[in-house]
Amino acid sequence: MTIQTLLETRLSEALGAPAQVAATADARFGDYQTNAAMIAAKAQRANPRQIAAQMIERIQVADFCEPPEIAGAGFINFRLKPEFVAQRARALLDDTHLGVPQAEKPRKIVLDFSSPNVAKPMHVGHIRSTILGDTLTRIARFLGHEVITDNHIGDWGTQFGKVIYGWKHFRDDAALERDAIQELVRLYKQANALADSDAAVMTACREELVKLQAGDPENLDIWKRTVALSWREFEAMYNLLDIHFDEHLGESFYNDALAPLVERLLACGIAEISEGAVCVFFRDNPALADKPCLIRKSDGGFLYATTDLATLEYRIQRWNADAIWYVVGAPQALHFEQIFATAARMGITGNLRHVAFGSILGEDRKLMKTRSGENVGLRDVLEEAQERSLRIVEEKNPDMPPEEKAEIARIIGIGAVKYAELSQFRMSDYVFSWDKMLSFQGNTAPYLQNAYVRIRSIFRKNNGDFNVPATLALSEPAEFTLSKKLLQFGETVPATLDDFRPNLLGNPVSPSAN
Ligand code: ARG
Repeated sequence: MTIQTLLETRLSEALGAPAQVAATADARFGDYQTNAAMIAAKAQRANPRQIAAQMIERIQVADFCEPPEIAGAGFINFRLKPEFVAQRARALLDDTHLGVPQAEKPRKIVLDFSSPNVAKPMHVGHIRSTILGDTLTRIARFLGHEVITDNHIGDWGTQFGKVIYGWKHFRDDAALERDAIQELVRLYKQANALADSDAAVMTACREELVKLQAGDPENLDIWKRTVALSWREFEAMYNLLDIHFDEHLGESFYNDALAPLVERLLACGIAEISEGAVCVFFRDNPALADKPCLIRKSDGGFLYATTDLATLEYRIQRWNADAIWYVVGAPQALHFEQIFATAARMGITGNLRHVAFGSILGEDRKLMKTRSGENVGLRDVLEEAQERSLRIVEEKNPDMPPEEKAEIARIIGIGAVKYAELSQFRMSDYVFSWDKMLSFQGNTAPYLQNAYVRIRSIFRKNNGDFNVPATLALSEPAEFTLSKKLLQFGETVPATLDDFRPNLLGNPVSPSAN
């Protein structure tokens, strides 16, 4: 039981009602604090400090706290006893789970993240999804949840008409071998530009698309090759980031399920025909009343939403999932509201959550773009991170063997990019600043890595045979403070999942203070 839970249990025992306790951000207010007296006073129209005084009489925490104190408008502050902290910190050394309690109700969670699009480069926007999604996966698994990670690759869509046209007319095999995605993007762009100025090319592109959709073997084969080439490049990024997926069932996987799904939704009255198209209306939902979800166009084509509904059904059926979390940028909020509202009408009751996030900005505080105005590719970002780190390593350790330099540059560079993401609240836009994220000062990856390396070297100097004493003596104030911080780990880790805030772990202040 964490200290927070222990305090809450004692408090609710004493008060006969649930009460909340939070770690304090400022040591002047003790280690933990409750506003239970203020809440009770409000309900009873009584003086909060008086209520607090009455509560203190009843609360039994003398076995691990100093006498509780009343502060401010009626807070009750708790200060932990050093012997208790020492004994808990000692126990932590034997706990492979580092004081983090297992989830009371383990869930089966499908985590949908990264999900880049075939024949398009992964851009920095995908970096947020990839890193956040992987972090949530690791945390949820550590807490005892079962997590299935599924990369919902965008491998189907109207753009393939143009990609296939380009493939057939101006493909450069050497370029494809060198940098597949760049070449695929070129094919698409060139076909697109031609189609804009030449109606015959436009028609030809459409025909390629119709043939692909009808299962033409040649076009299917080209499509498969573009998917495989793109996946190869995505995988290289994932390997570099040490991020891996259980499944990568792309949008195309659900093609055959779309038509029957729409028919079913029509038959049971969830969807209806409107001006030749098929829509789901949410007339009794004020937020969505004028925003129906389009699931079949009047020309018979299916949409992103149709695929997502089929995907959702599949996940629930195949994995019996009780939660599906989608780590996708904030601009898709409406899409997910519509999907979840439709799912509710289909009787799907699981915990469906859109884990949204903001944008990455350039140093000019505008959306991060290259000089020519394009999205910045993830590959370029990861390469630059390693190059810049290598320069720093070379400056600090010119005599180190080159392989070691490269390995350290990889660890620092990739770590810096990941931590820049993880130390931010997901909804805030953040400025992508190399100097800041690679700095050895402040709340940065290099700072933490440096601290870690120094701690390891202390243990190395001990020749490896470090015997944990039977009891710890926290004689220095810093040791006492540090121990209390370490004990909060078990409180912070589960809290990160409450609102999908892994940044709580990267913040110097305690979770509840945020
Ligand atoms: N491929 C989409 C994009 O890049 C993201 C897909 C997210 N997942 C989902 N189930 N819709 O914007």
